[in-house]
Amino acid sequence: MTQPPADEAFFPDRSTRYGAYPVTPLPDRTWPDQILDRAPVWCSVDLRDGNQALVEPMNPATKLTFFKGLVDLGLKEIEVGFPSASTTEAEFIRLLVKEKAVPEDVTLQVLTPARGELIEETLRAVECLPRVIVHLYNSTSELQRRVVFQESRQGIVDLACRGTEQIRSWLDKNGQTGVTFQYSPESFTGTELDFAIEVVDAVADIWGPTPESKMIINLPATVEMSSPNVYADRVEAFGRGVRRRNQMILSVHPHNDRGTAVAAAELGLMAGAERVEGTLFGNGERTGNVDLVTLALNLMTQGVDPGLDFQDINRLVRLAESCTGLPVHPRHPYAGELVFTAFSGSHQDAIRKGMRAQAKAASRRWEVPYLPMDPADVGRGYDELIRVNSQSGKGGVAWVVEQAEGYSIPRRLQIEFQRSIQWEAESRSGEVDAPVIRKLFTDRYLKHKGPLCLVDGSWEIVSEGPSEWRVRVDIAKGGTVKRIEAAGNGAIDAFWIGLRKAFSLNLRLIDFSEQSLSAGSSSESVAFAELLDEEGLPWHGVGRDSSTVVAAFRAVVGAVNLALQPAERERVG
Ligand code: KIV
Ligand code: ZN
Repeated sequence: MTQPPADEAFFPDRSTRYGAYPVTPLPDRTWPDQILDRAPVWCSVDLRDGNQALVEPMNPATKLTFFKGLVDLGLKEIEVGFPSASTTEAEFIRLLVKEKAVPEDVTLQVLTPARGELIEETLRAVECLPRVIVHLYNSTSELQRRVVFQESRQGIVDLACRGTEQIRSWLDKNGQTGVTFQYSPESFTGTELDFAIEVVDAVADIWGPTPESKMIINLPATVEMSSPNVYADRVEAFGRGVRRRNQMILSVHPHNDRGTAVAAAELGLMAGAERVEGTLFGNGERTGNVDLVTLALNLMTQGVDPGLDFQDINRLVRLAESCTGLPVHPRHPYAGELVFTAFSGSHQDAIRKGMRAQAKAASRRWEVPYLPMDPADVGRGYDELIRVNSQSGKGGVAWVVEQAEGYSIPRRLQIEFQRSIQWEAESRSGEVDAPVIRKLFTDRYLKHKGPLCLVDGSWEIVSEGPSEWRVRVDIAKGGTVKRIEAAGNGAIDAFWIGLRKAFSLNLRLIDFSEQSLSAGSSSESVAFAELLDEEGLPWHGVGRDSSTVVAAFRAVVGAVNLALQPAERERVG
């Protein structure tokens, strides 16, 4: 390896080694005003471009599994290989035929370089197919002409034309029908625009498409070299400049070297392309091909039906991961494990409120803050919306309890319980998952550990006058049972008066609320009580029962128990 010159070693401004992408001016561009209102024709190149990029290419069985998954997703054009590259590639086509794996509305596509013997092998490999797209390519880029082929522009045009001619005469000679011809000026992004148009015009003149029988012209960003707007300018300028535009289906094939392949495809479509070649989750050479899943779901979340079935995105992730051996990133748009999850308190709060409003909304239109789409629309659940760590707030914790218990807890109880979770999260230095939150809630509020215990079956409301209720309740404490008999202006009031007196409690009952829970035929109540002690500390209790009165008594006793536990006082104080 050559070393950098000595004076560069300390001041390595590497940017001087690169230059700006040459921009062809297009001041009257129209693409920025276009709105994408329909899905393009999708073509998957997972089994060819994607496969070529794998450390370990797929074997025929894996390719078949992947192929079936692509068909299930709803793809109608699938590039299955490069039959002249290896016998396995050619055999795969025979395998698809043997397995009758190609539905009538699906067209296979095969790729061939513009070289005589390879074209012939490719054509032989697809003789058995009733429908096929034969995709011819040769590189037209300035750099490759100069350093790889040492070829003139005319030489490159001739190569493309010879290839086209060969395919045309082979088909004529063999009488093979059902063939759509596709041509790619490979490295379109590195090709002078006027030259790309010149090659395509020449190829199209030889092929002779018609408006009824169009050819596909694919414009690959073989290497993504510019911002997406520049690519879009080139697509629009190409469409305007090429002679037989109405006899062509314009296709884009963005790679993701600058990380903007999705944007390039979208702007390319706005600029007049009608078809997109890409892969699931963006597998492909180097930084990958454009991700068809993101593109399609970007359309869906703009109200445009992508024409693909994403009802179970996790299945799609598993398919791609198992076939390619590459993981889908947890933050991958729409599909990653974490993309429907909020950890931060303010996001959780907004999501919880949004979900509540959504459940009550008259319209089906999705409007939940921080969630651009309903996870259920791709088969994901609501239990993953909120996960709790030390950055989470009361809303998140309340959501988890709500999901588990089926009721919402009062605001001040949320604050109190959140403190225990915060403490738990900090001591674990990480996430407190939903089962742990549920357990902590149940242990703290629903499983009373004493010292007071409501003795089962021994409370009664002696009389229910308009202003005076009388209750008789047995409460156990440390092995002895005390009978409370008291009167008040309601069952809870009477109970609280009796309880305070019987156990000399220096506590005030400052809040009480109840909710009814109906599940199936059984209906239950949940009650919440909040007490304040002499130091001004709040203590919350929760009670659940089929009787509203019993639920209330339980909530009150639960709050008293927490207030009376020295360990609790230490923790809270
Ligand atoms: O990226 C590319 O240029 C290709 C072509 C063969 C279409 O994959
Ligand atoms: Zn490619």
